[in-house]
Amino acid sequence: MKQYDYIIIGSGIAGLYDALLLQEAGSVLILTKGSIDECNTKHAQGGIAAAISSLDSAELHFNDTIAAGAGLCDPEAVRLLTEEAADRIDDLVKFGVPFDTVNGEIALTKEAAHSVPRILHAGGDATGERIEVTLSNAARASKRITIFEYFLVTEVLVRDGKVQGVAALDLHSGSAEEFGCRFLILATGGIGRLFKITTNPDIATGDGVALAYRAGAEIIDMEFFQFHPTALRLPGVPLFLISEAVRGEGGILRNIKGDRFMLKYSSQGDLAPRDIVARGIVAEMKETGTDRVYLDVTHLPPRLLSTRFPQIYRFCLEHGLDITISLIPVVPAAHYIMGGVRTNYWGETNVSGLFASGEVASTGVHGANRLASNSLLEVLVFGKRIVERTRKGEANTTTLAKSDVYPLKERDTAAVSHPHLSLTALQSLLWDKVGIVRSGEGLREAANILAAWEKELKPPTDRPSHELANMVLVGRLMVEAALIREESRGAHFRSDFPQPSDAWLKHIVFKKTV
Ligand code: FAD
Ligand code: SIN
Repeated sequence: MKQYDYIIIGSGIAGLYDALLLQEAGSVLILTKGSIDECNTKHAQGGIAAAISSLDSAELHFNDTIAAGAGLCDPEAVRLLTEEAADRIDDLVKFGVPFDTVNGEIALTKEAAHSVPRILHAGGDATGERIEVTLSNAARASKRITIFEYFLVTEVLVRDGKVQGVAALDLHSGSAEEFGCRFLILATGGIGRLFKITTNPDIATGDGVALAYRAGAEIIDMEFFQFHPTALRLPGVPLFLISEAVRGEGGILRNIKGDRFMLKYSSQGDLAPRDIVARGIVAEMKETGTDRVYLDVTHLPPRLLSTRFPQIYRFCLEHGLDITISLIPVVPAAHYIMGGVRTNYWGETNVSGLFASGEVASTGVHGANRLASNSLLEVLVFGKRIVERTRKGEANTTTLAKSDVYPLKERDTAAVSHPHLSLTALQSLLWDKVGIVRSGEGLREAANILAAWEKELKPPTDRPSHELANMVLVGRLMVEAALIREESRGAHFRSDFPQPSDAWLKHIVFKKTV
């Protein structure tokens, strides 16, 4: 088995940024299941939050993040996030990420629930693409970083409680291989493909959460999944995000009758936190008996729209919609998982040698609802901390704080009637029963069906079957957590428990029983 100091699974911003910093410390192997740029990162639009203007401060950013997190952020993690933000932005600038500027200064925009403009962007609304291209070019150019594309990691190898390496499937030859390492960093991204309607690309199947759970890692906050309020809905056109920054620049939500409605749901109106806007849209669609609302930017200067949002402007135009004169039909869509593999402030999990970085990790900064554009920032701040910790040659010297740990519930599924398991059946089930508005009855139904599907799974052999098995497990972790949490908080809303409860100011953690 070939040995490396570091193996990193994934080639989005988390995998690439960590690899670029770690190349000085030892040999680095990146394994990624598609081409290097197949990832959520490439699709990021709005930008990265950081308090870098004279009107802003780490304290203001801290307060906004804590407020959006609805009582469940870890204040120390948020302090690190907001105080280390400016230095991490400098790292990206040094790597060559071309942030947009005005009069020689980095340009900043506003997004929902930020009290001041603090979002850096690149290429207008092409922030993620600019980051991915810059970092992947640098990683490809490095002689110290080995990159294997089309390698699907299928297992984390653990012996005596310590990570030894990974098993992977070479997707070109179909052969199984093993690679050894001292430190393993999961940078596998999100889980949005569990849902029928999502902004996430095909790779977002929750593999990292499933791999970590099977390896004995703690999985936390899986009930907190964020739905983005505004994805373009045009018949026959692939779902496409319409950035929150569009509302930040003055875009207005209107219902099918043309009426503004968000002030009915929040005094922050169109720029309320995402969970409130997404639920406001659902309520409005129900009230008006339609399947969409509209985002209106027709009052904004056409030149602003085409230069500030070139991707959105072009995509809509290519599909027959001129947003300078027509309303944009939008719906909420599955977007981002706040929970994931539980880490401490150094990116360490409870399994020795196993780290988690990026969307797969749950560092405690997002609580029950992520503030827009804090995700790319979290990757940098905690990625850097992983690098610092492992460069000292140590792993897992700090234990995770104590919390309630639950086993994943066994369910008697003998009498459960259910459709045949397929990707579309799973995505429909999660969207319908574990979506923006949940109920105990729907969650129990989904929990039983997922448990029945899990029992029927055959040993996976190829990428689709591995991904489906991972999605069933991740779906189970999400639905069981959502059932246990009998309250509504942040992105988790239950119609049978519509209010938050102080008794639930705590986290739900799952860990495999051995
Ligand atoms: P990713 O970029 O998703 O990379 C994951 C990598 O892991 C991929 O290379 C994938 O192929 C690989 N992988 C997964 N499983 C395996 C496996 N089993 N074996 C091998 N490889 C594997 N956040 C912001 O802060 N600001 C924004 O403006 C913003 N806009 C967004 C817009 C969209 C449309 C989307 C979808 C998300 C947006 N987000 C935004 C969220 C943010 O982009 C992501 O959270 C972030 O990019 C995640 O980076 P990552 O490196 O953790 O994961
Ligand atoms: C967006 O541009 O609206 C996405 C921002 C994010 O998810 O943080």
